[in-house]
Amino acid sequence: MTAGREVRSSSYMYWAKTSSTAEYNLATSGLGNLKRRDLRVSVDDLEITDGGYGYQPLIQSIATRYRVATESVVTAAGTTFANHLAMAALIKPGDEVLFEHPAYEPMLAAARYLGAKVKRFYRTFENGFRILPEELEALVSSSTRLIVITNLHNPSGVLIEDSTLKQIGEIARRVGARVLVDEVYIETLFEESPRTAFHLGNEFVVTSSLTKAFGLSGLRCGWIFTEPELARQMWLLNDLFASTAVHAGERLSVVAMQQLAEIGERSKQVLDRNRPLLNDFLDTREDLEVIRPQFGTVMFPRVRRGTADELCRLLREKYETSVVPGSFFEMPAHFRIGIAGDTDVLKAGLDRLGKALDEFSRG
Ligand SMILES: Cc1ncc(COP(=O)(O)O)c(C=O)c1O
Repeated sequence: MTAGREVRSSSYMYWAKTSSTAEYNLATSGLGNLKRRDLRVSVDDLEITDGGYGYQPLIQSIATRYRVATESVVTAAGTTFANHLAMAALIKPGDEVLFEHPAYEPMLAAARYLGAKVKRFYRTFENGFRILPEELEALVSSSTRLIVITNLHNPSGVLIEDSTLKQIGEIARRVGARVLVDEVYIETLFEESPRTAFHLGNEFVVTSSLTKAFGLSGLRCGWIFTEPELARQMWLLNDLFASTAVHAGERLSVVAMQQLAEIGERSKQVLDRNRPLLNDFLDTREDLEVIRPQFGTVMFPRVRRGTADELCRLLREKYETSVVPGSFFEMPAHFRIGIAGDTDVLKAGLDRLGKALDEFSRG
Protein backbone atom coordinates (compact mmCIF):
# COMPACT_ATOMS: atom_id res chain seq x y z
CA MET A 1 0.00 0.00 0.00
CA THR A 2 1.19 3.52 -0.73
CA ALA A 3 -0.05 6.79 0.71
CA GLY A 4 -0.94 8.85 -2.35
CA ARG A 5 -1.12 12.60 -2.09
CA GLU A 6 -4.78 12.54 -3.02
CA VAL A 7 -5.69 10.35 -0.03
CA ARG A 8 -6.54 12.14 3.17
CA SER A 9 -4.46 10.21 5.64
CA SER A 10 -1.88 10.42 8.41
CA SER A 11 1.72 10.63 7.23
CA TYR A 12 2.93 9.60 10.69
CA MET A 13 0.72 6.51 10.86
CA TYR A 14 1.84 5.44 7.39
CA TRP A 15 5.47 5.82 8.40
CA ALA A 16 4.86 4.01 11.72
CA LYS A 17 3.24 1.04 9.96
CA THR A 18 5.67 0.75 7.06
CA SER A 19 9.04 2.22 8.04
CA SER A 20 9.51 2.50 11.79
CA THR A 21 10.57 -1.01 12.65
CA ALA A 22 14.22 -1.83 13.24
CA GLU A 23 16.27 -4.35 15.17
CA TYR A 24 16.52 -1.76 17.96
CA ASN A 25 13.16 -0.04 17.89
CA LEU A 26 13.09 3.07 20.08
CA ALA A 27 10.29 4.62 18.04
CA THR A 28 7.36 3.14 19.94
CA SER A 29 5.67 5.07 22.72
CA GLY A 30 3.76 2.27 24.43
CA LEU A 31 4.68 -0.63 26.68
CA GLY A 32 5.49 -3.83 24.77
CA ASN A 33 2.41 -5.60 23.46
CA LEU A 34 1.08 -8.24 25.82
CA LYS A 35 0.22 -11.69 24.54
CA ARG A 36 -2.96 -13.64 25.24
CA ARG A 37 -1.08 -15.81 27.74
CA ASP A 38 -0.21 -12.65 29.74
CA LEU A 39 -3.89 -12.32 30.64
CA ARG A 40 -5.77 -14.84 32.75
CA VAL A 41 -8.57 -15.53 30.31
CA SER A 42 -10.56 -18.52 29.15
CA VAL A 43 -12.66 -18.90 26.01
CA ASP A 44 -15.69 -19.07 28.28
CA ASP A 45 -15.06 -15.40 29.09
CA LEU A 46 -15.78 -14.56 25.47
CA GLU A 47 -19.02 -14.20 23.56
CA ILE A 48 -19.69 -13.15 20.01
CA THR A 49 -22.69 -10.88 19.95
CA ASP A 50 -24.11 -8.10 22.06
CA GLY A 51 -26.17 -5.15 20.93
CA GLY A 52 -27.14 -1.67 21.94
CA TYR A 53 -25.11 1.34 22.94
CA GLY A 54 -21.98 -0.11 24.49
CA TYR A 55 -21.34 -3.21 26.60
CA GLN A 56 -22.51 -2.28 30.09
CA PRO A 57 -19.94 -4.30 32.12
CA LEU A 58 -17.13 -2.59 30.19
CA ILE A 59 -18.69 0.86 30.57
CA GLN A 60 -19.14 0.14 34.27
CA SER A 61 -15.52 -0.87 34.82
CA ILE A 62 -14.19 2.20 33.00
CA ALA A 63 -16.61 4.45 34.90
CA THR A 64 -15.59 2.93 38.24
CA ARG A 65 -11.86 3.22 37.56
CA TYR A 66 -12.13 6.95 36.80
CA ARG A 67 -15.01 7.83 39.16
CA VAL A 68 -17.21 8.93 36.28
CA ALA A 69 -20.97 8.37 35.77
CA THR A 70 -21.72 5.59 33.27
CA GLU A 71 -23.85 8.07 31.25
CA SER A 72 -20.64 10.04 30.60
CA VAL A 73 -18.73 7.11 29.08
CA VAL A 74 -18.67 6.35 25.34
CA THR A 75 -16.52 3.41 24.27
CA ALA A 76 -14.61 3.48 20.98
CA ALA A 77 -11.94 1.57 19.07
CA GLY A 78 -8.85 3.01 20.74
CA THR A 79 -8.03 6.61 21.51
CA THR A 80 -7.65 7.12 17.76
CA PHE A 81 -11.29 6.51 17.07
CA ALA A 82 -12.34 8.13 20.36
CA ASN A 83 -10.63 11.32 19.15
CA HIS A 84 -12.29 11.09 15.77
CA LEU A 85 -15.76 10.44 17.18
CA ALA A 86 -15.43 13.19 19.78
CA MET A 87 -14.24 15.75 17.24
CA ALA A 88 -16.89 14.69 14.71
CA ALA A 89 -19.55 15.37 17.34
CA LEU A 90 -18.01 18.65 18.49
CA ILE A 91 -17.05 20.44 15.27
CA LYS A 92 -18.61 21.21 11.92
CA PRO A 93 -16.69 22.09 8.75
CA GLY A 94 -15.35 25.65 9.06
CA ASP A 95 -15.39 25.67 12.89
CA GLU A 96 -12.31 27.11 14.53
CA VAL A 97 -10.18 24.68 16.50
CA LEU A 98 -7.10 25.68 18.51
CA PHE A 99 -4.52 22.92 18.36
CA GLU A 100 -1.29 22.57 20.30
CA HIS A 101 2.03 22.67 18.45
CA PRO A 102 3.82 20.27 18.36
CA ALA A 103 0.92 17.85 18.00
CA TYR A 104 0.23 14.15 17.53
CA GLU A 105 -0.18 14.24 13.77
CA PRO A 106 -3.02 11.69 13.29
CA MET A 107 -5.21 13.73 15.64
CA LEU A 108 -4.40 16.95 13.82
CA ALA A 109 -5.06 15.21 10.49
CA ALA A 110 -8.45 14.03 11.78
CA ALA A 111 -9.44 17.60 12.75
CA ARG A 112 -8.46 18.80 9.28
CA TYR A 113 -10.29 15.87 7.68
CA LEU A 114 -13.43 16.99 9.52
CA GLY A 115 -13.05 20.43 7.94
CA ALA A 116 -11.93 22.34 11.02
CA LYS A 117 -10.21 25.68 10.58
CA VAL A 118 -7.13 24.89 12.64
CA LYS A 119 -5.22 27.60 14.50
CA ARG A 120 -2.09 26.77 16.47
CA PHE A 121 -0.72 27.67 19.87
CA TYR A 122 2.85 26.83 20.77
CA ARG A 123 4.36 24.63 23.44
CA THR A 124 7.99 25.61 22.98
CA PHE A 125 11.16 23.89 24.04
CA GLU A 126 12.27 27.13 25.73
CA ASN A 127 9.13 27.08 27.90
CA GLY A 128 9.56 23.42 28.78
CA PHE A 129 6.68 22.51 26.42
CA ARG A 130 4.28 24.11 28.88
CA ILE A 131 1.02 25.64 27.69
CA LEU A 132 0.86 29.40 28.26
CA PRO A 133 -2.78 30.23 29.02
CA GLU A 134 -2.16 33.88 28.06
CA GLU A 135 -1.30 32.75 24.54
CA LEU A 136 -4.57 30.83 24.34
CA GLU A 137 -6.41 33.79 25.79
CA ALA A 138 -5.08 35.99 22.98
CA LEU A 139 -6.00 33.43 20.34
CA VAL A 140 -9.56 32.36 21.26
CA SER A 141 -12.53 34.05 19.68
CA SER A 142 -16.27 33.64 19.65
CA SER A 143 -15.75 31.30 16.65
CA THR A 144 -13.56 28.91 18.66
CA ARG A 145 -15.39 25.62 19.16
CA LEU A 146 -12.61 23.44 20.51
CA ILE A 147 -9.15 23.54 22.10
CA VAL A 148 -7.14 20.33 21.63
CA ILE A 149 -4.30 19.18 23.88
CA THR A 150 -2.54 16.00 24.92
CA ASN A 151 -1.72 15.21 28.54
CA LEU A 152 0.92 13.86 28.87
CA HIS A 153 2.11 15.77 25.85
CA ASN A 154 3.05 13.73 22.82
CA PRO A 155 5.89 14.21 21.81
CA SER A 156 7.55 15.77 24.89
CA GLY A 157 6.00 13.67 27.67
CA VAL A 158 5.36 16.81 29.74
CA LEU A 159 2.51 16.71 32.30
CA ILE A 160 0.07 19.63 32.38
CA GLU A 161 -0.58 20.93 35.89
CA ASP A 162 -4.22 20.94 37.05
CA SER A 163 -3.98 24.70 37.62
CA THR A 164 -3.14 25.22 33.92
CA LEU A 165 -5.92 22.86 32.85
CA LYS A 166 -8.38 24.86 34.96
CA GLN A 167 -7.24 28.10 33.32
CA ILE A 168 -7.69 26.54 29.88
CA GLY A 169 -11.17 25.38 30.92
CA GLU A 170 -12.10 28.91 31.99
CA ILE A 171 -10.88 30.38 28.70
CA ALA A 172 -12.96 27.82 26.78
CA ARG A 173 -16.03 28.36 28.93
CA ARG A 174 -15.98 32.11 28.35
CA VAL A 175 -16.34 31.62 24.58
CA GLY A 176 -18.58 28.55 24.74
CA ALA A 177 -15.88 26.17 23.49
CA ARG A 178 -14.83 22.72 24.72
CA VAL A 179 -11.42 21.35 25.62
CA LEU A 180 -10.49 17.96 24.21
CA VAL A 181 -7.76 16.32 26.29
CA ASP A 182 -6.16 13.16 24.92
CA GLU A 183 -5.00 11.38 28.09
CA VAL A 184 -3.67 8.21 26.55
CA TYR A 185 -0.37 8.57 28.45
CA ILE A 186 -1.78 9.68 31.82
CA GLU A 187 -1.85 6.15 33.24
CA THR A 188 1.96 6.12 33.15
CA LEU A 189 1.73 8.12 36.39
CA PHE A 190 0.45 4.84 37.88
CA GLU A 191 -1.77 6.60 40.39
CA GLU A 192 -3.98 4.44 42.58
CA SER A 193 -6.92 6.58 41.60
CA PRO A 194 -5.99 7.77 38.10
CA ARG A 195 -6.59 11.44 37.42
CA THR A 196 -8.61 12.76 34.51
CA ALA A 197 -9.27 16.35 33.43
CA PHE A 198 -12.92 15.37 33.04
CA HIS A 199 -13.41 16.14 36.74
CA LEU A 200 -12.34 19.75 36.22
CA GLY A 201 -15.54 20.89 34.52
CA ASN A 202 -18.19 20.28 31.89
CA GLU A 203 -16.16 21.89 29.13
CA PHE A 204 -13.66 19.03 29.29
CA VAL A 205 -14.00 16.09 26.91
CA VAL A 206 -11.42 13.40 27.54
CA THR A 207 -10.20 10.47 25.48
CA SER A 208 -7.99 7.53 26.40
CA SER A 209 -7.46 3.79 26.08
CA LEU A 210 -5.58 0.80 27.48
CA THR A 211 -2.95 1.14 24.75
CA LYS A 212 0.10 2.92 26.14
CA ALA A 213 0.56 2.11 29.82
CA PHE A 214 -0.63 -1.48 29.62
CA GLY A 215 0.63 -2.84 26.30
CA LEU A 216 -2.96 -3.59 25.26
CA SER A 217 -3.17 -1.67 22.00
CA GLY A 218 -4.57 -4.73 20.24
CA LEU A 219 -7.74 -4.71 22.34
CA ARG A 220 -8.66 -1.27 20.90
CA CYS A 221 -10.27 -0.54 24.25
CA GLY A 222 -10.75 3.22 24.08
CA TRP A 223 -13.25 5.65 25.54
CA ILE A 224 -14.53 9.21 25.71
CA PHE A 225 -15.67 11.00 28.87
CA THR A 226 -18.13 13.80 28.27
CA GLU A 227 -21.29 15.22 29.76
CA PRO A 228 -24.28 12.87 29.32
CA GLU A 229 -26.08 14.83 26.58
CA LEU A 230 -22.93 14.97 24.44
CA ALA A 231 -22.26 11.31 25.22
CA ARG A 232 -25.71 10.48 23.88
CA GLN A 233 -24.99 12.43 20.69
CA MET A 234 -21.70 10.59 20.26
CA TRP A 235 -23.36 7.19 20.65
CA LEU A 236 -25.89 8.17 17.98
CA LEU A 237 -23.20 9.51 15.66
CA ASN A 238 -21.30 6.26 16.14
CA ASP A 239 -24.22 4.47 14.48
CA LEU A 240 -22.97 6.06 11.24
CA PHE A 241 -19.37 5.00 11.84
CA ALA A 242 -19.04 1.68 13.63
CA SER A 243 -22.57 0.72 14.71
CA THR A 244 -21.32 -1.66 17.39
CA ALA A 245 -17.94 -2.80 18.68
CA VAL A 246 -16.38 -6.25 18.24
CA HIS A 247 -18.04 -7.91 21.20
CA ALA A 248 -15.30 -10.47 21.89
CA GLY A 249 -12.95 -7.49 22.21
CA GLU A 250 -15.27 -5.82 24.70
CA ARG A 251 -15.38 -9.01 26.77
CA LEU A 252 -11.61 -9.34 26.68
CA SER A 253 -11.31 -5.69 27.70
CA VAL A 254 -13.42 -6.33 30.81
CA VAL A 255 -11.10 -9.21 31.72
CA ALA A 256 -8.06 -6.95 31.18
CA MET A 257 -9.58 -4.15 33.28
CA GLN A 258 -9.79 -6.60 36.20
CA GLN A 259 -6.05 -7.26 35.94
CA LEU A 260 -4.83 -3.69 35.41
CA ALA A 261 -3.21 -3.38 38.83
CA GLU A 262 -0.80 -6.22 38.09
CA ILE A 263 -0.20 -5.20 34.50
CA GLY A 264 0.42 -1.62 35.57
CA GLU A 265 2.92 -2.76 38.22
CA ARG A 266 4.95 -4.57 35.55
CA SER A 267 4.82 -1.50 33.29
CA LYS A 268 5.98 0.75 36.10
CA GLN A 269 8.96 -1.53 36.75
CA VAL A 270 9.97 -1.31 33.08
CA LEU A 271 9.77 2.50 33.05
CA ASP A 272 11.54 2.84 36.42
CA ARG A 273 14.36 0.70 35.05
CA ASN A 274 14.58 2.38 31.64
CA ARG A 275 14.21 6.09 32.41
CA PRO A 276 17.57 6.34 34.25
CA LEU A 277 19.27 4.63 31.28
CA LEU A 278 18.12 7.38 28.94
CA ASN A 279 18.88 10.09 31.49
CA ASP A 280 22.41 8.73 31.98
CA PHE A 281 22.90 8.63 28.22
CA LEU A 282 21.67 12.21 27.84
CA ASP A 283 24.10 13.34 30.58
CA THR A 284 26.93 12.28 28.27
CA ARG A 285 25.70 14.11 25.16
CA GLU A 286 26.60 17.74 24.73
CA ASP A 287 25.24 17.64 21.20
CA LEU A 288 21.67 17.17 22.49
CA GLU A 289 19.34 19.40 24.47
CA VAL A 290 16.28 17.93 26.15
CA ILE A 291 13.42 18.61 28.53
CA ARG A 292 13.35 15.61 30.85
CA PRO A 293 9.81 14.66 31.86
CA GLN A 294 9.23 12.83 35.11
CA PHE A 295 6.57 10.54 33.68
CA GLY A 296 5.54 8.90 30.45
CA THR A 297 7.21 6.79 27.85
CA VAL A 298 9.02 9.28 25.60
CA MET A 299 11.48 12.18 25.46
CA PHE A 300 11.97 14.65 22.63
CA PRO A 301 15.63 15.73 22.39
CA ARG A 302 16.88 18.40 20.02
CA VAL A 303 20.13 18.30 18.07
CA ARG A 304 22.17 21.42 18.59
CA ARG A 305 23.04 21.67 14.91
CA GLY A 306 20.85 21.20 11.81
CA THR A 307 17.87 18.86 11.58
CA ALA A 308 17.46 15.37 12.97
CA ASP A 309 16.14 13.83 9.73
CA GLU A 310 19.60 12.90 8.51
CA LEU A 311 20.54 11.54 11.92
CA CYS A 312 17.40 9.36 11.99
CA ARG A 313 18.18 8.01 8.52
CA LEU A 314 21.78 7.20 9.44
CA LEU A 315 20.68 5.62 12.71
CA ARG A 316 18.20 3.33 11.02
CA GLU A 317 20.19 2.41 7.93
CA LYS A 318 23.63 1.92 9.45
CA TYR A 319 22.87 1.26 13.10
CA GLU A 320 19.54 -0.64 12.75
CA THR A 321 17.91 1.60 15.34
CA SER A 322 14.77 3.67 14.93
CA VAL A 323 13.47 6.78 16.65
CA VAL A 324 10.71 9.09 15.39
CA PRO A 325 11.94 12.03 13.30
CA GLY A 326 10.75 15.32 14.78
CA SER A 327 9.48 16.35 11.35
CA PHE A 328 6.38 14.22 12.08
CA PHE A 329 5.73 16.64 14.93
CA GLU A 330 6.59 19.72 12.85
CA MET A 331 9.86 20.14 14.79
CA PRO A 332 12.62 18.77 12.55
CA ALA A 333 15.49 19.60 14.91
CA HIS A 334 14.08 17.05 17.37
CA PHE A 335 13.54 13.31 17.49
CA ARG A 336 11.30 11.29 19.79
CA ILE A 337 12.78 8.42 21.69
CA GLY A 338 10.73 5.81 23.54
CA ILE A 339 11.75 4.13 26.80
CA ALA A 340 8.89 1.67 27.27
CA GLY A 341 10.40 -1.27 25.42
CA ASP A 342 12.71 -4.08 26.40
CA THR A 343 15.60 -2.88 28.59
CA ASP A 344 18.33 -4.69 26.65
CA VAL A 345 17.01 -3.29 23.38
CA LEU A 346 17.03 0.21 24.87
CA LYS A 347 20.63 -0.24 26.10
CA ALA A 348 21.82 -1.46 22.70
CA GLY A 349 19.79 1.21 20.88
CA LEU A 350 21.28 3.99 23.01
CA ASP A 351 24.76 2.67 22.36
CA ARG A 352 24.04 2.82 18.63
CA LEU A 353 22.46 6.25 18.92
CA GLY A 354 25.69 7.45 20.54
CA LYS A 355 27.72 6.12 17.60
CA ALA A 356 25.35 7.66 15.06
CA LEU A 357 25.49 11.01 16.89
CA ASP A 358 29.29 10.91 16.90
CA GLU A 359 29.29 10.24 13.16
CA PHE A 360 26.58 12.86 12.57
CA SER A 361 28.54 15.48 14.53
CA ARG A 362 31.74 14.73 12.57
CA GLY A 363 29.84 15.08 9.27
C1 LIG B 1 -1.60 11.26 21.70
C2 LIG B 1 -1.99 9.92 21.17
N1 LIG B 1 -3.29 9.62 21.04
C3 LIG B 1 -3.69 8.43 20.56
C4 LIG B 1 -2.79 7.46 20.20
C5 LIG B 1 -3.29 6.15 19.68
O1 LIG B 1 -3.83 5.42 20.74
P1 LIG B 1 -4.78 4.17 20.53
O2 LIG B 1 -3.91 2.99 20.32
O3 LIG B 1 -5.54 4.08 21.81
O4 LIG B 1 -5.65 4.44 19.36
C6 LIG B 1 -1.43 7.72 20.31
C7 LIG B 1 -0.44 6.71 19.89
O5 LIG B 1 0.71 7.00 19.63
C8 LIG B 1 -1.02 8.98 20.81
O6 LIG B 1 0.27 9.28 20.94
